[in-house]
Amino acid sequence: MSLQLSKLETSMLHGQHGKAMQKAMQILVAVGQIYQAESLIPISSVQIAGVSYDNLGDAGLEFLQFMANEGGKVRVFATLNPAGMDIQNWQSMGINEAFAQRQMEVIEAYKKLGVITTCTCTPYLIGNLPRFNEHIAWSESSAVCFANSVLGARTNREGGPSALASALTGLTPNFGYHLDQNRLPDVQFLVDADLKGGNGTSTAYLFGALGKVIGQQIEKRGKTCVPYICEINHASLEDLKSFSASIATYGGTALFHMQGITPEANYFSPPTELITINQNEIDIAINSMRNIVLEKTDFITLGCPHLSLNEMSHLAQLLQDKHVHKEFWITTSRQVKGIADMMGITKIIEASGAKIICDTCCVVAPIKARFHNMVSDSAKACYYAQAKHHFSATLQSMEDVVQTATTDSP
Ligand code: F3S
Repeated sequence: MSLQLSKLETSMLHGQHGKAMQKAMQILVAVGQIYQAESLIPISSVQIAGVSYDNLGDAGLEFLQFMANEGGKVRVFATLNPAGMDIQNWQSMGINEAFAQRQMEVIEAYKKLGVITTCTCTPYLIGNLPRFNEHIAWSESSAVCFANSVLGARTNREGGPSALASALTGLTPNFGYHLDQNRLPDVQFLVDADLKGGNGTSTAYLFGALGKVIGQQIEKRGKTCVPYICEINHASLEDLKSFSASIATYGGTALFHMQGITPEANYFSPPTELITINQNEIDIAINSMRNIVLEKTDFITLGCPHLSLNEMSHLAQLLQDKHVHKEFWITTSRQVKGIADMMGITKIIEASGAKIICDTCCVVAPIKARFHNMVSDSAKACYYAQAKHHFSATLQSMEDVVQTATTDSP
């Protein structure tokens, strides 16, 4: 059956609600036809990626300006992914003026469209928090995976243009992860490995390594393969944030179930196809992301995905009365930083010489070839540092990252 449109939707497609709405409808209809959706369904929330001018270029900026100038206005709660720079303090990042000007034009276009220019990849930490079974249209792979899996909301992996089209129409094609049958688990992963860290060490990097191991298995089976993960006794919000980013990066995964931890896991029995993940595989994954001589580190970053308040607070304890000796970016949302300011956390971190940077991250900022040897606690950041910026990268725990940052290399 082909895509059926209501009278209202048809009038949008025929341009009776303006050119921006028509373009948005054309995008949704094209996507719906490709994926054989039978209808469009209402959504309640949108997260829009495609914000950094480094990724968008002039063609992307012109598209946004066209949509804004032709009267486009969002109809649902819509937030924005990171841009290519800290909107308020871009000079401290070494961003050049021409880039900053173009980036601000992108932000202005989104503002004109009515998008809330949050510029964070963790919208679920700052109030864009969909409920279980809610239909949404999110782009940004880590946030999509988190929303589908940890929150039990329903979204496909939207691109920037299709997410914007959904924001303007309040609609998305009904296919993929919006449908019950595509949310069933396909393969059971039994995790026979220690993800506890030890001595109170942060465990998010271990979950990043697990995401790489399972993601690589998923990639062999196709991105729509849904993993059902067993024997994880505990996972913090930060662990799940890290895992979502990593499995989405290495496997293209948009949905996982984790027995006893994610909400939909209770509805399913573990699939019969079973893959056991052992400690050796986790160790191999970690070692595969240790590619630099630490003394040569020239760039350190935490906050991929953007740091939570909990992580900021822990980081302040680690950096108290210490001094960092390398370029050290801590990326978080402006909203989390606002609370950190109130708590006195910002002062402690900045007194160390580390930079708290909002609205952007080490991947979408234009820093290609500016550094050579990066250290991070994020498996996703390690992947993109190499693939996009051509840095070498090393994965460490947050505690070890701080140790590396505060050690004075010769
Ligand atoms: Fe977020 Fe940038 Fe990482 S958008 S998930 S901090 S690559």
